[in-house]
Amino acid sequence: MRSQYCGQVTKTVLDQNVMIVGWVHRRRDHGGVIFLDMRDREGLVQVVVAPSNQTAFRMAESVRHEYVLQVKGRVRHRPAGTVNTELATGDIEIEALEITVLNRSEPTPFPIDDYHDVSEETRLRYRYLDLRRPEMLQRMRFRAEMIRYLRNYLDKHGFLDIETPCLTKATPEGARDYLVPSRTKPGHFFALPQSPQQFKQLLMMAGMDRYYQVVRCFRDEDLRADRQPEFTQLDIETSFLNEDELLPLIEAMIRGLFADLMKVELPNPLPRLSYAEAMARFGSDKPDLRIPLELIDMSDIMRHVEFNVFSGPANDPQGRVAALHVPGGAALSRKEIDAYTQYVSIFGAKGLAYIKYNADGLQSPILKFLPESVVKSMIERTKAKEGDIIFFGSDKTQIVNESLGALRVKVGHELGLVQTGWQALWVVDFPMFEQREGRLTACHHPFTAPKINDVSELNQDPINLMARAYDMVLNGTEIGGGSIRISSPDIQMAVFRALNISEEEARQKFGHLLDALKFGCPPHGGLAFGLDRLAMLMTGATSIRDVIAFPKTQSASCPLTDAPSTVDPAQLVELGIRIRANINPEKK
Ligand code: AMO
Ligand code: AMP
Repeated sequence: MRSQYCGQVTKTVLDQNVMIVGWVHRRRDHGGVIFLDMRDREGLVQVVVAPSNQTAFRMAESVRHEYVLQVKGRVRHRPAGTVNTELATGDIEIEALEITVLNRSEPTPFPIDDYHDVSEETRLRYRYLDLRRPEMLQRMRFRAEMIRYLRNYLDKHGFLDIETPCLTKATPEGARDYLVPSRTKPGHFFALPQSPQQFKQLLMMAGMDRYYQVVRCFRDEDLRADRQPEFTQLDIETSFLNEDELLPLIEAMIRGLFADLMKVELPNPLPRLSYAEAMARFGSDKPDLRIPLELIDMSDIMRHVEFNVFSGPANDPQGRVAALHVPGGAALSRKEIDAYTQYVSIFGAKGLAYIKYNADGLQSPILKFLPESVVKSMIERTKAKEGDIIFFGSDKTQIVNESLGALRVKVGHELGLVQTGWQALWVVDFPMFEQREGRLTACHHPFTAPKINDVSELNQDPINLMARAYDMVLNGTEIGGGSIRISSPDIQMAVFRALNISEEEARQKFGHLLDALKFGCPPHGGLAFGLDRLAMLMTGATSIRDVIAFPKTQSASCPLTDAPSTVDPAQLVELGIRIRANINPEKK
């Protein structure tokens, strides 16, 4: 139906006849001449319809925005002074010879060519219109190119693309499962995979050596800008590679991706930061290194002060006193500081002490509680200068890290301190376990190998063990993570025991994996990247919803299809399911 895409009609076909198809992006009536901007996937081209061509002109008069047309015409130079340098087709136009309306469009709920204030609900309800916007199209195209690059890289490096089941058994990645009732086995359920973790390990045990998959994962968790209930991973697993062999192979892929698609050179090798150092310096295990602010330890200085707010945590082995020095921050108003105090309270901070270094001296609500020598040490340690502010957090270490870590990012953004560019790094040496509500849970997942020499170490002091896990962080977002896995049934059982998973429960949930570990399991490890997050960062989008063709809302529903929805009672009968009458739809 066409000779070329709208966006590809250029000077090379000057004075030739072309045939294009596409949507009417804009229509302008210029006193007797009608201009149609025709749009397709590849861009825009201007069609000019002269009144002398009566049939085409009448047709052009009748068309409206988003009509689908076929236009036959002749390509000519645009008259001097009307060249549009912003368009690839900007120095030519098509003189219409014949116009056919292939389909009409009702007025769209929002304009495609120019819109700002459209609610996300409306955008998602009419997603097929939203995706017509050149900006969205660009993102979809970028995402496709990104995935193509990654697949090529892995194909070239001997990875096999292997599919794993969607109807499967739960695999723990820290979220709730999406369940699918079985009709053939009433009362039984499949779980949609939170990740293909166990299958990719089984593939290593099957001798596949190197596996990858671009794969949908399902997690029923609280949603945010960088979380969707279904999202896409680039899932990778390898055999017989240790960390120092695997990480360079993987980071070369990310470096290549940035070089190829963005013309950006990432450092070689990528910096590695231990979890402990990341927490101490940035209060986060996914530090945004574009922000030139760091947490500074103050505990030793505060041990002997009378001010309890500081000396308490300073003398508590689980406590921490830390400072965040913000150059130029003395200009912050009382109101702004109050807002930051309110903000850190979300993370459990009971206050936000500060010292302003003004031209006429120090100003602070805590000076009166601290001896001069201590104040002097505080200024020296932080290297604060006139015009600066120092914030202080004092509490359990986790609260101080979380609150000052989040404050660092917020202040960094609000004071315009965020540097441009790309800061990628590995965070390594994660703890193996964390304590949650009095119980040990796996920091990564329970298949991650601990850093131990002997299995007995798992029984002695599990909370202090480190894991052979690593995350890749880009501009403050965790884009990927993985680990070297447990490849011995004894260690796997010992980890389950440490997690308070009984032998019986372990067999019931993971019997297949425990069995497979007995039959010659290769040392193996891998990781998974969140492709939506990577695409979001690389396209400069603010939410992963903007790089997913058909995403869900914050409440995990789809305004386009109205899913999830009720089903035919007969289907429920077949599945042996009865809906309880008093079910509360608001309850999560
Ligand atoms: P993990 O749970 O860290 O590891 O997930 C890997 C990456 O997936 C992305 N991600 C998400 N993206 C969007 N929405 C979500 N709800 C979401 N959850 C995670 C993140 C994250 O870094 N099986 C392990 C990997 C392994 O050990 O090999 C796993 O799934 O970018
Ligand atoms: P207070 O004695 O509670 O009035 O606190 C004096 C100052 O210390 C105020 O500026 C509080 O915001 C601050 N402050 C109180 N508790 C903490 C804390 N846990 N960490 C940091 N600052 C705090």
